[in-house]
Amino acid sequence: MVEVEKSRILEMLSEQSFSFLNQGPLKAAAFGPDFHFGVAISATQNEGAATIDGRSPSIWDVYARRKGVIRNKAKPTVTCDFYHRYKDDLLLVKALGFSCFRFSISWSRILPDGTGKANVAGINFDNDVINECLRLGLIPFVTLYHWDLPQVLQQEGGWASPLINRWFRHFVKICAKAFGNRVKYWLVLNEPVGFTSLGYMLGKHAPGKRNLEQFLKTVHHAAIAQAEGGHVLRELVPNAQIGTCFSCSEIVPYTSKPADLSAARRIDLLINRLFIEPLLGKGFPEDDKGLMDKMARQNLSWRFTERMQFDMDFIGLQNYFPLVIRHNPFMPFVQASVVKASSRKVPFTSLDWEINPGSFLQIIKRFWKYGGIREIMITENGAAFKDRFSQGRINDTERIDYFKSHLSALLQAKKEGVNLKGYFAWTLMDNFEWAEGFDARFGLVHVDFNTQLRTVKNSGYWWRDFLNSYS
Ligand code: GAL
Repeated sequence: MVEVEKSRILEMLSEQSFSFLNQGPLKAAAFGPDFHFGVAISATQNEGAATIDGRSPSIWDVYARRKGVIRNKAKPTVTCDFYHRYKDDLLLVKALGFSCFRFSISWSRILPDGTGKANVAGINFDNDVINECLRLGLIPFVTLYHWDLPQVLQQEGGWASPLINRWFRHFVKICAKAFGNRVKYWLVLNEPVGFTSLGYMLGKHAPGKRNLEQFLKTVHHAAIAQAEGGHVLRELVPNAQIGTCFSCSEIVPYTSKPADLSAARRIDLLINRLFIEPLLGKGFPEDDKGLMDKMARQNLSWRFTERMQFDMDFIGLQNYFPLVIRHNPFMPFVQASVVKASSRKVPFTSLDWEINPGSFLQIIKRFWKYGGIREIMITENGAAFKDRFSQGRINDTERIDYFKSHLSALLQAKKEGVNLKGYFAWTLMDNFEWAEGFDARFGLVHVDFNTQLRTVKNSGYWWRDFLNSYS
């Protein structure tokens, strides 16, 4: 059994008195026998082997070469070398007691030209991963697009190009035909608001654009892609369980001043509503007339179409933190900014992300209230901390507390009637954390990026014990 000290985090949280935190020991069995517990990774963050077996560069390989965009000049060329070590890594997943494994397909490995003919070596790699999962009794959850567009398609405009939907349908078809006889669970897009806004409006992720008009085009196209990906899978994979992932955050206005309230509403619209509402057939959110008109003026073709609607079997929600928002007239377009967690009296992670399981509960309930969602799975949730070795171990108490408190909130949501079917911890092992490079460590397993040595952290052992109690 792993010894867990009561940490600063749990103390601070209990001061806020979340009643669901005080309901006795947490048992995996309380989630029910058919609940999916898994870990998630993604291709760019874990695979490495960036130039091997015919893979062409993705937008992340190219973006990472730019000066000053990624912490410590980190590159996703090798990362955790999952490409060569997947067998050992999947054994770890199994040993930690998880029953599901979420990973993504590298588009530029499968289709080095972005479109056209599939690369057999690329297909073989994902086949091997899937087969190994099945051999170990792990259920594979496949994400089709986790932010790594082939660079050749970026040169043609990427997600801002009107051709992207044709390219994406082709990619999905290839994957459905190659893997559909063994993969039941599919996730079409990972966090569309993340890759469109960070990649095309804020310039903080690949492809590093700062262009409002392009951003709006990417929103339009990604909203179509998430639904069309669903249609292709439905047609080609009998009995598929089809979902797509949304990031979400409870949004809290900094004060009750009208300017802060409306700034918070604008951010809420962008972060939480922009993609789920068209998918559910509700159209783009229109109640903030000012913001929506601004968007429409930038891009006249930007409107809801029925191509954006699809009846998903489940919705993947990914939550890490709530956001406190204040009015900021100097911020272009949204005129709002985030009030840092470290400037408030709240617990936060090494990325200055507020730790607040109560907000996790609220945002899950809020999505459920939309109606029209069959099932919810939490497809990512986790925390980065500055892990330190002590006598060969990493006693990451704060991460254990993060998981405990968020699982308690999840159980509460389930008790309150949300049809929750799964939870995936982010992430199996420390990996390439996008613009944060290798500095932000989210793993249950520590990775030494010089030697590729894996060391299970105490949070990994905590999960093993928690899942072993499943009976
Ligand atoms: C998500 C993303 C993951 C991971 C995580 C932690 O937004 O899907 O790839 O990086 O955040 O930052």
